Amino acid sequence: MAEEVFGDGLQATRAYVELLATDGVVRGLIGPREVPRLWERHVLNSAAVADAVPQGARVVDVGSGAGLPGIPLGLARPDIALTLVEPMARRVEFLEEAVAALGPRPWRVLRGRAEERSVVTAVGPVDVVTARAVAPLPRLVGWCRGLLRPGTQLVALVGARAVEELPGMLPELERAGMRDIHPRAVGASLGDAATTVVVMTRGGR
Ligand SMILES: C[S@@+](CC[C@H](N)C(=O)[O-])C[C@H]1O[C@@H](n2cnc3c(N)ncnc32)[C@H](O)[C@@H]1O
Repeated sequence: MAEEVFGDGLQATRAYVELLATDGVVRGLIGPREVPRLWERHVLNSAAVADAVPQGARVVDVGSGAGLPGIPLGLARPDIALTLVEPMARRVEFLEEAVAALGPRPWRVLRGRAEERSVVTAVGPVDVVTARAVAPLPRLVGWCRGLLRPGTQLVALVGARAVEELPGMLPELERAGMRDIHPRAVGASLGDAATTVVVMTRGGR
């Protein structure tokens, strides 16, 4: 399955999983109990997001942590340009080392919070903002306001409960300028790693 998803990037993906299982655990970014399920629950689950990302997109992964979903997405999709944004120094250090180890690729790491002007300026225009387990959707949209220019999509990996609660959040998300808000099943061929993301687009011009 991983061979199908990552193709030529499979060897780099193995190296990333190894980094998560070693350095990631030692530095407290990944719980030791997660190690046996890194592929399914974290790496393939993140790569499933690729279904919702257009060809050649400029992507920023907000609150990337140890690189999820950004790094698996970038490994599965060498056509995308990727920026990983993360405020915590320890996580940024891990991300910088992982990006250096897996490169060269059109990826970069920025330290900061999504809502900071310096981050918005450094990221520049993007087609897609991704985020996994960063904040409830209305707060996430608020933080990403500067990154979400008209036409930019937000693809959020949020878990089953947030998908269920989506209808109740629609008015608030629409007031924040988001349009075409809908759940989308992704990674159908990935067995247990298949998931549902919430997709929405910033309206206006
Ligand atoms: C629960 S972790 C999830 C990490 C990763 N996305 C994953 O799925 O494993 C949430 C991450 O969001 C980051 N974060 C919190 N507030 C943020 C903000 N305002 N802008 C960007 N990242 C933020 C945290 O530092 C943390 O790494």
